[in-house]
Amino acid sequence: GLRVRSGLIEPDGGRLAQLVVEEPLRRARTRESLTLPRVKLSRIDLEWVHVLSEGWASPLRGFMRESEFLQTLHFNALRLADGAVVNMSVPIVLAVDDADRHMIGESSKVALFDANDNPTAILSNIEIYKHPKEERIARTWGTTAPGLPYVEEAITNAGNWLIGGDLEVLEPIKYEDGLDRFRLSPANLREEFTRRNADAVFAFQLRNPVHNGHALLMTDTRRRLLEMGYKNPILLLHPLGGFTKADDVPLSWRMKQHEKVLEDGVLDPETTVVSIFPSPMHYAGPTEVQWHAKARINAGANFYIVGRDPAGMGHPVEKRDLYDADHGKKVLSMAPGLERLNILPFKVAAYDKTQGKMAFFDPSRPQDFLFISGTKMRTLAKNKESPPDGFMCPGGWKVLVDYYDSLAPA
Ligand code: ADX
Repeated sequence: GLRVRSGLIEPDGGRLAQLVVEEPLRRARTRESLTLPRVKLSRIDLEWVHVLSEGWASPLRGFMRESEFLQTLHFNALRLADGAVVNMSVPIVLAVDDADRHMIGESSKVALFDANDNPTAILSNIEIYKHPKEERIARTWGTTAPGLPYVEEAITNAGNWLIGGDLEVLEPIKYEDGLDRFRLSPANLREEFTRRNADAVFAFQLRNPVHNGHALLMTDTRRRLLEMGYKNPILLLHPLGGFTKADDVPLSWRMKQHEKVLEDGVLDPETTVVSIFPSPMHYAGPTEVQWHAKARINAGANFYIVGRDPAGMGHPVEKRDLYDADHGKKVLSMAPGLERLNILPFKVAAYDKTQGKMAFFDPSRPQDFLFISGTKMRTLAKNKESPPDGFMCPGGWKVLVDYYDSLAPA
C-alpha cells in the first residue's frame, strides 16, 4: 500500500487497495489458479476486476460480499471497522449461475478466467449469496423500466448468485487497443500530480466529446481555484473507458477528439492530465455520480466538477430524461462519505446566440439560448452539417464527422 506524503487528498480508508500480485509471487499464484474452480469473466466483469485491482474503489479489496452489497444498495456507503464511513453507491459484484455454484461446491477460492481463457485473478475467502436482481436494479436506477443499457448487458441474463471475496489479480489488466498508455492507475495519477507540483486537482468525468460548454466548466473552475489562492491547479480530464451504450461515441474516437481539443487550445495541455477511467457506465444518474466522484478521490482529486444531469440519459420508455437534471449535483453535495471532496456544481451551459459562444444559461432571456443535445449533435455530425460557430473547436468536430462517416454504409 502507498502511504501518501505528497499533500494530495488521502485515499478512502487511508491507503490504496493495490491488488495486482507482486512479481515474486506471480508464477506460484498463476499455477495455483489452474487448480481452482473456474469462473468466466464477461467484458464488464473484467472492467470491474481492473477497477478493483488499481484501488479506484478503495478500501474495497474484491467483489462485494453480501454485507457490502446491502450497505451499498441501502446506504450508498460502507462503514469501516474503525467506524469511518466511505461512499459506495454502485454494487461491484460478480454473478455466477446455478451450474457455477454447484461446481464451486465447498471451495473457499475460485480462479477468474477472461474471455480468451487466460487465468486473470484469484478470489479467496469467498461468499456466495442470492442475486436479488429486481431489488438491485430498482435501488440502483430508481426504476425497473425495460431498456436500461447496463441492466440489459450485465444483469438480466446474469446468474442468480453473487460471489464476493478477496481479489488477487495475476497481472495488470491491459486491453492492447493502443490506449493502454492513457490508462493511468490512481497510484500513477498521484505520482503525476506530485511530479507536477499540483496544489489542487480538479476532476472532470465525461463520456461524451468535449464541447465548449464542457470546456467552460473546466476553465471557470481553474479561474475560481486561482482566485481562491491555489498556485498550480491541475485538471484531470477523465473520460470513462468501460462499457457505454450503443449510441455513445466509442472511446477511441473520443480520445482522438479530446486530443484535438488540447491541440486547438480549448484546454491547456500544460495544466491538464488526460487519462482513462476504467469503470463501466451505469447511466444511474445521482446514484452513479457518487461513484464517479468517490473514485476520483482515490486518484488524488480534491475538487470535482458536476454540471447538468451527470450520468443521465433519456428515459428508456418515456419521452423525458430519466433523472431530474439538478438532482445529481444536489445529491453529490450531501452524499455520505464525500465530505472531504469539494464539489463544484455548475449551471447548464448552452449556446448563447447573442454572443456566438457557449455560456451559462440565463433564465431571464431563454430565447437567446440554443440547447444542443447529444442527439442533435449526432444528427448534425451524421449529416455532415456544422454546429453553430463556437460550439466545438473545428478539429474536434471533424473527428466526430469522421466517426459517423466510418459508420455509414459504403
Ligand atoms: S456523464 O455521463 O459523464 O456525466 P457527459 O460526458 O455528458 O456525461 O458530462 C460530463 C460532465 O459535464 C457532467 O458533470 C455533466 O453534468 C456536465 N455537463 C454536460 N453537459 C452540460 C451542459 N450543457 N451544461 C452543464 N454541464 C454539462
